Amino acid sequence: MKKFLAVVSGLILLIIILTACTGPQGEQGPIGPAGPPGPEGPQGPAGVEGAPGPSGESLSGADYVGAQVCSGCHQAIYDTHAKSGHAHALSKVVEGKTPEFPFSTLTDPPQGYSWTDISYVIGGYGWQAIFANKDGFIITDEPGKSGNTQYLNQYNLDNEALDKSAGFVSFRAGEAEVKNDCVACHTTGYNATGSQENLAGVIGAWKEDGVQCENCHGPGSLHIKNPQGVRMYIDRSSQACGQCHAQDETGQLHAKDSFINHQQQFTEIAKSKHLVLSCTNCHDPHSGVVQLAQEKVATTKTVCADCHYNEANNQKVTLHKNFECTQCHMAPMVINAWGDATKFTADMPTHLFGINPEQVGQFSEDGLTSYSTISLDYACKHCHGGGIATPKDDALLKQTATGYHQAQAVQAP
Ligand code: HEC
Ligand code: HEC
Ligand code: HEC
Ligand code: HEC
Ligand code: HEC
Ligand code: HEC
Ligand code: HEC
Ligand code: HEC
Repeated sequence: MKKFLAVVSGLILLIIILTACTGPQGEQGPIGPAGPPGPEGPQGPAGVEGAPGPSGESLSGADYVGAQVCSGCHQAIYDTHAKSGHAHALSKVVEGKTPEFPFSTLTDPPQGYSWTDISYVIGGYGWQAIFANKDGFIITDEPGKSGNTQYLNQYNLDNEALDKSAGFVSFRAGEAEVKNDCVACHTTGYNATGSQENLAGVIGAWKEDGVQCENCHGPGSLHIKNPQGVRMYIDRSSQACGQCHAQDETGQLHAKDSFINHQQQFTEIAKSKHLVLSCTNCHDPHSGVVQLAQEKVATTKTVCADCHYNEANNQKVTLHKNFECTQCHMAPMVINAWGDATKFTADMPTHLFGINPEQVGQFSEDGLTSYSTISLDYACKHCHGGGIATPKDDALLKQTATGYHQAQAVQAP
């Protein structure tokens, strides 16, 4: 107990001394170094919803104004588009004057007709032209007649690669009263229930000839008054192009006479692994391809080697090294105007891309649909058999094609 009292009184004494000795507080020391970061905190609450983005709906109530009006503020795009096939997909014949095209010329309409008897020309820009008479019907025979299945009504432009000069061939020749439903894809602002100029031979009505700005961007009357306030519609999906670059929604790749039918780029790409890409990854929608080829500049925004550098560096056949990838992977097996089955060559490239070294045939037994990959016949024989390179037998082609891009073992010296 004594000991306890002594300790307590000692402590009290110490406190008294310490309190008595407290001098003025010293200056604050320097700030120490920053400590390590603490652990990640929990996720915060969801943010406030943003203002609604622009949508096609903001264009509702808008009218079509025509590409010429867009040129006022988008001159460069207008000029490029004006040289593309889209701008010339349908041409009205005014006062009997021959329609004009950037890279081709039409001379005479089909036999029995003069230009004053023609209402519209479909195409004529890149591959071929089809003509409509004054009542809007597709011309398939001489005026007032039908039944001549030999009648020449489709004008094919010349094709150097296939060694063909321009000239007429037959398309549904002799059929009576063929209505023009083609305009669904060859015009802008199309409406299937309207009646263009009350022409008996035409199905539907439209706002502008050809595939113009407002076909892809929506009607522009509100945007031109208030460009920032009313945004135009932009759709970069392949489906948007596929509305016209597909023949139907069956997914079947239609073929005839040893070639794939044209106008099916979307159907083709949907069968390849490039389905993950969109058309606009490769194509500038305003230029298309033809005008760039004419100018001898790159025809696509990206090249194959941008994404496939391994394959670009490894090709089994060294003699092929400087070839474009497209010569095998986008073989000319789609027919628009001209084709030569004996040379496995037609006038458009395929968008199937994949080559199957095991594949012998290309088409179903009835010849009316194509398989999903390119056979050796079409990947190789437009050169090896088409007169460009020496013919090779199937066994050698198959052996060479298998593992075509696999890195080759380097031989020890
Ligand atoms: C009076 C000038 C003017 C006219 C005429 C005009 N535009 Fe525009 N447009 C603009 C401006 C300015 C912008 C940029 C707006 C912005 O960035 O907010 C623009 C942007 C666009 C865009 C891009 C929209 C986006 O979201 O990025 C498209 C597509 C477009 N216009 C299409 C058209 C079409 C088609 C026409 C013809 C029907 C047309 N424009 C006529 C001024 C115009
Ligand atoms: C076949 C469809 C199509 C047609 C026809 C078309 N466009 Fe476009 N346009 C597009 C697509 C798709 C994009 C987006 C391209 C991209 O981002 O790669 C685009 C982008 C634009 C843009 C914004 C980006 C840019 O390139 O500056 C403007 C402005 C534009 N288009 C105006 C026009 C005008 C004006 C016309 C007519 C002269 C026109 N477009 C015709 C599909 C089309
Ligand atoms: C489903 C949409 C669609 C319909 C319907 C359609 N076309 Fe086309 N047409 C296209 C597309 C896309 C192209 C270009 C791509 C291609 O040829 O592969 C084209 C290309 C053409 C060309 C070649 C153009 C040129 O400048 O060389 C002609 C000619 C043509 N079509 C005529 C017709 C006729 C005639 C009809 C009606 C019997 C018709 N089209 C119906 C979408 C269509
Ligand atoms: C991986 C790149 C790529 C994609 C994706 C692609 N294309 Fe192509 N396309 C090309 C190339 C390369 C050519 C051939 C260009 C040439 O002949 O120089 C071509 C040619 C074409 C042609 C024929 C033009 C001509 O003059 O022969 C049309 C039409 C076409 N493409 C439409 C489309 C459409 C529609 C889509 C989407 C459904 C699409 N392409 C997707 C690369 C592509
Ligand atoms: C409204 C229907 C329609 C839509 C949508 C459309 N096309 Fe076309 N396209 C056509 C027609 C018709 C032609 C044939 C025009 C001609 O040559 O006379 C054509 C031709 C082409 C050509 C070859 C002509 C050239 O100028 O090189 C290319 C490439 C092409 N389209 C790419 C596209 C791409 C990419 C898209 C989507 C961004 C698209 N198209 C959307 C109808 C359409
Ligand atoms: C923007 C990138 C891109 C470009 C450009 C591109 N490809 Fe591809 N390619 C791909 C992707 C992604 C795949 C799918 C890869 C996978 O699934 O393994 C693919 C797959 C392929 C295949 C296998 C196809 C199949 O269905 O089996 C071939 C062949 C091919 N590409 C060839 C080409 C050629 C030829 C070009 C140029 C005309 C090209 N690619 C351009 C991205 C691209
Ligand atoms: C002489 C024809 C030929 C040329 C040129 C060619 N390829 Fe190929 N490619 C083939 C064949 C054949 C196959 C199929 C190989 C297999 O399945 O074993 C193939 C397969 C491919 C594949 C699928 C994946 C693989 O490696 O098997 C891609 C991607 C490809 N090629 C890209 C390209 C690119 C990019 C170029 C241009 C730099 C190119 N090819 C040039 C014939 C060619
Ligand atoms: C664009 C044209 C072209 C295409 C497409 C093409 N080749 Fe060739 N190939 C040539 C040329 C040119 C030569 C060299 C001269 C010759 O053999 O006639 C050659 C040579 C060859 C050789 C002989 C190689 C040697 O060292 O002697 C083989 C084997 C061959 N190619 C296989 C193929 C196969 C397999 C394909 C399709 C997957 C193919 N080629 C596609 C043009 C082509």
